[in-house]
Amino acid sequence: RERSMTETAKAAFIEELNAALGAAVVTGEDIPAPFRHDWSGLPPVLPIALIRPRETDEVATALRIANRHGVTIVPQGGLTGLAGGAQPVAGGAVLSLDRMSGIEEIDPVMASITVKAGTPLEVVQKAADEAGLFLGIDLGARGSCQIGGNLATNAGGNRVIRYGMAREHVLGLEVVLPDGTVVTSLNKLIKNNAGYDLKQLFIGSEGTLGIITRVVLRLQAKPLTVNTVFCGCRDFPAVLDLLKGARARLGPALSAFEVMWPSFYDFMTGKLSELRRPLGRPHGVYVLLEQSGFDPEADSGRLEAVMAEMLEAGIVEDAVLASSERETRDLWAVRDSVSEYGKLMGPITAFDVGLQTDRMADVIAGIEAAYQARWPGAILLVYGHIGDSNLHLVANVPAAGDHQPHDDITDLVLGAVRAAGGTVSAEHGIGLLKKKYLHFTRSDAELALMARLKVALDPGNILNTGKVFTL
Ligand code: FAD
Ligand code: LAC
Ligand code: ZN
Repeated sequence: RERSMTETAKAAFIEELNAALGAAVVTGEDIPAPFRHDWSGLPPVLPIALIRPRETDEVATALRIANRHGVTIVPQGGLTGLAGGAQPVAGGAVLSLDRMSGIEEIDPVMASITVKAGTPLEVVQKAADEAGLFLGIDLGARGSCQIGGNLATNAGGNRVIRYGMAREHVLGLEVVLPDGTVVTSLNKLIKNNAGYDLKQLFIGSEGTLGIITRVVLRLQAKPLTVNTVFCGCRDFPAVLDLLKGARARLGPALSAFEVMWPSFYDFMTGKLSELRRPLGRPHGVYVLLEQSGFDPEADSGRLEAVMAEMLEAGIVEDAVLASSERETRDLWAVRDSVSEYGKLMGPITAFDVGLQTDRMADVIAGIEAAYQARWPGAILLVYGHIGDSNLHLVANVPAAGDHQPHDDITDLVLGAVRAAGGTVSAEHGIGLLKKKYLHFTRSDAELALMARLKVALDPGNILNTGKVFTL
């Protein structure tokens, strides 16, 4: 629901904002284009103001003013979100965390890092690395996404199989509530059961309950060895055998298990001349598997032995093991090429569904058949973090040009996911794009409780209004 706002009311809001925050506020055509949309593919929206605070206190001031004037504030991180969560809303302002960036502290004994929420993920990864430690969060958007955005979406990514989703890495948070209250709980203790674990409210709630301003993350021991292998399997049942075998033989050293169907592999390697096809001939399904360990003498030998067994058993048809950093990068480049969709495919309809892994093959086959029957010859790329039961589908109907049948494609795919008892979002969140489908995955009682939490924390309904659900 759009808020109608008179020009006078808008001018009063902007005037108060300018008086309190001055240079941090930009309005009208001075708002740079990147702040008018996120990565969801939704058309740009010009917000009534862009606020770029440098301090938590400025975030609090902005929210207090917005709350008093009843103006929506949309929190913006790195704007790489794919569900429209950071998309400006008509008549509302956006608040970017991009100037609140930097590492505050690394504590080697507690193995923790304290950072400002606007710090890009890659900067946090590098800081941990330089301190001889390791951050277990990684995703393709690492250079642009911010740690605050990662937590607000409870991001997944490539290493969930070993380290868990973003939520698992959070020890403490500082958040600003919609009324401007600052809640600082920069806890470093792994065990802290003193009352409710309030940080969990803000992790994965897509900026609807509070604005995250500082974060304490748990770091891991930095693996001493990382080995990467690219495998070709005959079919999906073989992929499941490989997953079970790799889990059993590598244990926690299995740090990535990314699967690509030929629809994805052939399309991306065919379109991007800089990508080398790792394997000589075609296979039914491809797997990028990573082992991270602590025994330089034994780790690569163990992985080679596991691969030899898999080849012997016919579970893997062919495999290539990276023997240099360059080769490792080349193998990952095939998977990370997802950042090129926009360039290669034009407008897409994208999914991040979750399905019980043993049902995936059947569900995909059903979706592919129905999709091709409806839009013959249209593109449907399939890949995913299969070790985490998370599947991505990316659709484009070339004949439809700029008028993609987004709703029909979404109905088809998410209808099948619902029937199979899956989730409509395993990692990107609901934002605007999946709102209509939230009830496919959540019960009435769950939705009602979400609404009660929203009303309790944001009674004026000013924070990211209309995202995830409409009150
Ligand atoms: P934004 O897009 O700016 O915002 C996302 C949401 O968080 C919005 O609702 C926004 O309001 C809210 N928000 C942002 N910052 C704050 C804050 N400080 N406080 C409160 N709310 C806030 N996602 C995955 O989970 N796994 C992947 O593997 C993955 N790979 C990707 C690869 C590419 C190439 C791209 C473009 C995206 C990928 N994503 C992936 C999606 C996206 O990168 C993640 O959702 C990421 O966590 C978003 O971070 P951001 O800083 O860009 O947030
Ligand atoms: C990926 C993003 C899109 O895994 O989640 O490629
Ligand atoms: Zn993903």
